[in-house]
Amino acid sequence: MGLYVLFFASLKIWHVFYQFTLYTRQENEEIMKYLCIADLHLDFWEDDKRNPFEGCEEALEDLDLLIIAGDLSNKPQKRWTRLLTPLVDLVGSGKVKIFPGNHDFYQYRFDAEDRLSEFADAAGAEYVNRKVVELEDTRFICATLWTDMELGPGRTRNIHHIPTRMNDYRAIRHAGAGYRRLWPEETIRTHKNDLDFIAGELAKPFAGRSIVVTHHAPHPDVLNDYKEDLDAAYASDLSAFIKTNKPDAWSFGHCHDARSITVEGCSLENVSLGYPDDVLAPKERFLSLIKDTELRLSPRP
Ligand SMILES: [Fe+2]
Repeated sequence: MGLYVLFFASLKIWHVFYQFTLYTRQENEEIMKYLCIADLHLDFWEDDKRNPFEGCEEALEDLDLLIIAGDLSNKPQKRWTRLLTPLVDLVGSGKVKIFPGNHDFYQYRFDAEDRLSEFADAAGAEYVNRKVVELEDTRFICATLWTDMELGPGRTRNIHHIPTRMNDYRAIRHAGAGYRRLWPEETIRTHKNDLDFIAGELAKPFAGRSIVVTHHAPHPDVLNDYKEDLDAAYASDLSAFIKTNKPDAWSFGHCHDARSITVEGCSLENVSLGYPDDVLAPKERFLSLIKDTELRLSPRP
């Protein structure tokens, strides 16, 4: 009888141990935390003598992936490596990915992306413009996007009017064309290339969720009103693209106060931080945007 009880007791102990091992493995391997954030504008925060990461260091240390979706800073040649290094130290080597927004080309060259990649690399971050990042069952399809310049009064008027109002077409230069100012035709062409890249990646089979991450916005309804018909510099109407290509979600920045909405079943989420004057509680903003892959807790619908 004693041996019988001992046998079943040891079976029970083994079973509990096995369940614990399974649970620990799931905890450690399947629930991955990520943060997509745009518009950190860390040079502005530095000028303002504020640290936007204050109080959320532990949450950042706990991340498995940080994607910076453009507008880390102006003057990337002088600032990207220096500003990225403490973030990489906090989050961990290999976990920080970045692609540029419009500001990351300011006082810089539109045709020198290879150097942006070097600045990121020097800090231990990875440059992911027009690249896919995978985390467990989630893939992030990353590209700056720019716009098609069609919103409002239409492209013909926009390509003449917007360069007179937007710094993009003054502060960004084209080195290969004698350092002249950037043209809207060049950002429109990049927009087309970025959309082709995103469509191509979404067409590839993937057993999981596909999240598109861009700097510019994919829909006009996310925008609040801009003066002087400048909507076309901030967003494009990608309703038809979303309907055809079916991403599960789309994270974007660029327009700091934009709304998050759902279009064609796809959740469009504004992940901007913004300028220090506009953000009273950066910690709450960071914490609200941290998500996890939730493989075990809530399977994808
Ligand atoms: Fe921007």
